Amino acid sequence: MALINHQVRLAARPVGNPKRSDWNFTEEPVGDPGPGGVLVKVLQLSLDPAMRGWMNEGKSYIPPVGIGEVMRAGGVGKVVASSHATFKPGDYVGGGFDVQEYCLLDEGQAKRAGLHKIDLRMGSLSQWLNALGMPGMTAYFGLLETGQPKAGETVVVSGAAGAVGQTVGQVAKIKGCRVVGIAGGPDKCEFVVKELGFDACIDYKSGSVKDGLKQHCPNGVDVYFDNVGGEILDTVLTRINRKARIVICGAISQYNNTTPVKGPSNYLSLLVNRARMEGIVVFDWADRYPEGVKQIAQWIREGKFKSREDIVDGLNTFPETLNMLFEGRNFGKLVLKVADE
Ligand SMILES: NC(=O)c1ccc[n+]([C@@H]2O[C@H](COP(=O)([O-])OP(=O)(O)OC[C@H]3O[C@@H](n4cnc5c(N)ncnc54)[C@H](OP(=O)(O)O)[C@@H]3O)[C@@H](O)[C@H]2O)c1
Repeated sequence: MALINHQVRLAARPVGNPKRSDWNFTEEPVGDPGPGGVLVKVLQLSLDPAMRGWMNEGKSYIPPVGIGEVMRAGGVGKVVASSHATFKPGDYVGGGFDVQEYCLLDEGQAKRAGLHKIDLRMGSLSQWLNALGMPGMTAYFGLLETGQPKAGETVVVSGAAGAVGQTVGQVAKIKGCRVVGIAGGPDKCEFVVKELGFDACIDYKSGSVKDGLKQHCPNGVDVYFDNVGGEILDTVLTRINRKARIVICGAISQYNNTTPVKGPSNYLSLLVNRARMEGIVVFDWADRYPEGVKQIAQWIREGKFKSREDIVDGLNTFPETLNMLFEGRNFGKLVLKVADE
């Protein structure tokens, strides 16, 4: 019996928070791989805040997803048919598989999708979407290369319980820094301190970030890894030290704005403190991912590093599951489970 591929396509460019009606659910028969091609059964998908940006018209670091196209997403899966020289049926793989059950790639598409084997002895499928995957690499290289933390310095990270944040804080701890997270709610704050070993965590939903920074960063802030932008960025800018480094990783508080993005009004703190603020895009370190994966996998093996994923079941839940990111309802890296192995 021919396999059927269920897919989620972008139906409309959302205004504000995406709605179910912004998506179309379609199905089509699964084709066979041609010469050099490969067919992947998608097992789990990475749901990322960046997806919101890809739904907008306009120029970014990659083109938007077109109306009617299958939504772009990274994932992990298993090769079910192949005439590709490198990939054999049964191999576990990662790559840009999009929001669908099967991903058929010709040789050129496999390369562009970044198809690569994953080793489940190094980490579970969901860890390959988290600490060993794109968010982990963002945190690892963004912190070490752009943030350049030194032992004894104070590192603050927002979105601390999320995918990128949890790795940033743990890498900074391993490097000998004082680490203060910012997260929404007591459970997330308790998790990053008690489970991940951060020195403190500020609950921005129940108190003043300014007071929290005063209390927990008595020596000021040397590195701020910003995942959220908006008011929190503005507040952290008032506490930075001379030569501080602010890593602009993301600004999730602004992604669903229907008004222009709110930039920091306290930016002159950069001048006063001879500090710098620098944006990062993880793909710039693509050729160094194996180095980051090897190091984080080693820390996991040695029991020095933990990862938490929030796995939601079912392709049909995609619209509501994606929105969990913007409502702070994910606790750890948000993963959509598409199929059992
Ligand atoms: N530059 C790059 O190459 C790159 C690569 C990957 C990710 N990123 C960026 O990194 C950031 C984190 O991504 P992630 O995958 O790790 O997501 P995540 O932190 O796992 O999930 C998003 C979290 O953002 C927080 N949030 C949502 N709305 C907020 C708001 N209005 N104010 C403050 N916090 C809010 C929520 O946590 P709370 O419950 O704590 O509020 C939510 O759980 C995003 O901005 C993303 O775009 C950038």
